[in-house]
Amino acid sequence: MTTPRLWLVIPAAGSGQRMHSSRPKQYQSLRGNLILDLAISRITATVTLAGCVVAIRPDDPWWGETRASKDDRITCCTGGRERADSVLAGLQSLQARAEENDWVLVHDAARPCLHPDDLNRLVSRLSDHGVGGLLATPVADTLKKTGAGTLDVQETVDRSHLWRALTPQMFRYGILKTALQAALSAGRPVTDEASAVEQSGYFPCIVEGRPDNIKITVPADLALADFLLSRF
Ligand code: C5P
Repeated sequence: MTTPRLWLVIPAAGSGQRMHSSRPKQYQSLRGNLILDLAISRITATVTLAGCVVAIRPDDPWWGETRASKDDRITCCTGGRERADSVLAGLQSLQARAEENDWVLVHDAARPCLHPDDLNRLVSRLSDHGVGGLLATPVADTLKKTGAGTLDVQETVDRSHLWRALTPQMFRYGILKTALQAALSAGRPVTDEASAVEQSGYFPCIVEGRPDNIKITVPADLALADFLLSRF
């Protein structure tokens, strides 16, 4: 069997409505770069990739502004309605080039603060794994559960085995594509790659990551990401 190669899929077809801006968060500027370019370059600077595909909206007017769009090793494809549709579109666009056993990293376009140590640990811990896994960080806060339609606390949830799922997530190409296709065609909710893989009966492996691998979601996250990047 050939040595598995490593591919990168970046879902970047979101509209980022919680940023209250006409420009989606992945196309906002941070320390002189577009967030999408930062998210990609933190990976390309650390590991050797066989290729990279970025899933964007069909009517995206900003892609041409990115450094990524001028890089021959990076292609783009049309994303879908939900994040999982965009990831699947990215995987399908690699169909002619990727082998079932190859690895795929999937990384949010809106996570510009991935530390190289986390990426290296993810790739080395999973290299012998049959399925794959994800960066995640232990839940640090006490968790409260409310009932439907009320803010009255019903319960404090035991957090001892709970983790916050981050990206990159890294899976075998064939397993991830089949899992996403099955989940989406069954209409099951898929909020990250691992959840689709779990639904197929596999057990993704957690690799502990740094909690500062934040996803830009609200405007205040831009200042936090600026600070974090100034410290790396
Ligand atoms: O909206 P959220 O922060 O969960 O999006 C996470 C990532 O998924 C972002 O990089 C966003 O651009 C991407 N996404 C996508 N296609 C969608 C929705 C989100 O590629 N339909």
